[in-house]
Amino acid sequence: MKTEILIQKAREAREHAYAPYSHFQVGACVATKDGNYILGANVENASYGATSCAERNALFAAYAKGYRKQDIEAIAITAASERICTPCGICRQVFAELLAEAVPVILSNGKETVCTNTKELLPDGFDGSFLNPAEREDIG
Ligand code: THU
Repeated sequence: MKTEILIQKAREAREHAYAPYSHFQVGACVATKDGNYILGANVENASYGATSCAERNALFAAYAKGYRKQDIEAIAITAASERICTPCGICRQVFAELLAEAVPVILSNGKETVCTNTKELLPDGFDGSFLNPAEREDIG
């Protein structure tokens, strides 16, 4: 996996952002272990809460193509912001569900790049294990 290629593809994805309200364009690229690159951009809505972030869209697109967490090598996210843009809380929760915890999450603003992962972005998060009946004492 070449970090620079992944960032470049995320930058290309950003060109397709639909951000008429914030004018804050974000692009994302999921690299799969079989060599595919799946792109996403943020898509906003006049009802702001219906907006979906670039990284979520890229990850959902990967899953919709049949990829699963074990198939994903890395994800890159890029915005042309002064400080590196970090994923929102909803995206962190989605990462916890759909990305293996050590998978590189590469954040770049074109000037600097930071590499993190789900474990760092959402420590002690809520996940499916809480819903596993075998682990619950409150149900028979
Ligand atoms: N946004 C993303 O797409 N990814 C992030 O990591 C942070 C925020 C989008 C959502 C919205 O369209 C715009 O940026 C401003 O919040």
